[in-house]
Amino acid sequence: MTIIPYGKQSIDQSDLDAVAQVLRSDFITTGPKIAEFEKAVADYTGAGYAVAVSSGTAALHIACLAAGIGERDEVITTPITFAASANCVLYCGGKPVFADIDPATYNIDPKEIARNITARTKAILPVDFAGQPCDMDEIRRIARQNGLLVIEDAAHALGAEYHGKKVGCLADMTTFSFHPVKSITTGEGGMVTTDSPKLCEKLRLFRAHGITRDPSQMEKDEGGWYYEQLALGYNYRITDFQCALGISQMKRLDRFLARRREIAKRYDEAFSRMKGIVIPAQAGGRLSSRHLYCIQVTGIPRKAAFDQLRSAGIGVNVHYIPVYRHPYYRNLGYRNVRCKNAENLYEKILSLPIYPELTEEQQGKVIEAVGGLRPPSGG
Ligand SMILES: Cc1ncc(COP(=O)(O)O)c(C=O)c1O
Repeated sequence: MTIIPYGKQSIDQSDLDAVAQVLRSDFITTGPKIAEFEKAVADYTGAGYAVAVSSGTAALHIACLAAGIGERDEVITTPITFAASANCVLYCGGKPVFADIDPATYNIDPKEIARNITARTKAILPVDFAGQPCDMDEIRRIARQNGLLVIEDAAHALGAEYHGKKVGCLADMTTFSFHPVKSITTGEGGMVTTDSPKLCEKLRLFRAHGITRDPSQMEKDEGGWYYEQLALGYNYRITDFQCALGISQMKRLDRFLARRREIAKRYDEAFSRMKGIVIPAQAGGRLSSRHLYCIQVTGIPRKAAFDQLRSAGIGVNVHYIPVYRHPYYRNLGYRNVRCKNAENLYEKILSLPIYPELTEEQQGKVIEAVGGLRPPSGG
């Protein structure tokens, strides 16, 4: 039986041609496509600057480094996310603090952010879950009031909008991922956008070993070969052929988003009439990129629903296990953390297939299978 996956990339001939052209050129790693891809994303999102890197995780890491997160600094984030959103704080020696979610949108609740601020808090790291932007006005207001930076993890949200503005220009720094299931893909890849030239300079340093060749940043200049290492950076460079794929994909981003939104609309219409299924609320002024389509199964145990749908050839998934529940985090001292709304959501949530190439017929099969969910025998 072929499984309908929950997410999948769309690659066409123009993508293949773009990559092949770079592979035949002189540049395999850092070449002209890096800046071209950065410009495409900056222009699209309305951000002043963009820094392309090797993954969404690398984007989060250099954003935390540029924010100056260090030993014992606290960063407030959501438990309903991929572990990378919190791991990036640990990489810098900081402490992720988990604030509970809004039970309607599944995004971090600004009231919970405010409640968790301490003298050690340095930044807020909201995640636009499933592609729906967080309450950025309120989060920015809390940040301003408390002298904090906002790093928006928009791994799910390239193309999403908040009160008419594209995600990417709403926070001090916004990070994207180009993993294959995301809005666009470069295989592995990521980007940080910012309006701050200072932060951009730091991001570029941390991306490439902390090394600069820019004479205006160097202590001295000994000649054409000369460069200086100014900080402890990493090799988080992305390749030119990945960026060629990214540029090619950006040309179809709006088409991808339109199809995702069409799929979500059909799911919304079907599931809002079904008993035992709760669909995620979309808050006012938000236009989701519809990276994930998550339902809550309230009529039967989630495990039974997961198993039945998988047996029917539907590649459902669970996003996410609250991060603090992982053994690594429990052993770090998060054993007693409990975010009630995140826990309740985790008990019921299921991600259904959504990606641009999902056909009407495949979607019909998903809807029918969800409509056919039954209590487990003996249940
Ligand atoms: C919310 C979130 N943040 C960060 C990442 C990390 O991105 P990447 O896989 O590109 O490193 C992901 C990836 O799935 C994600 O879903």
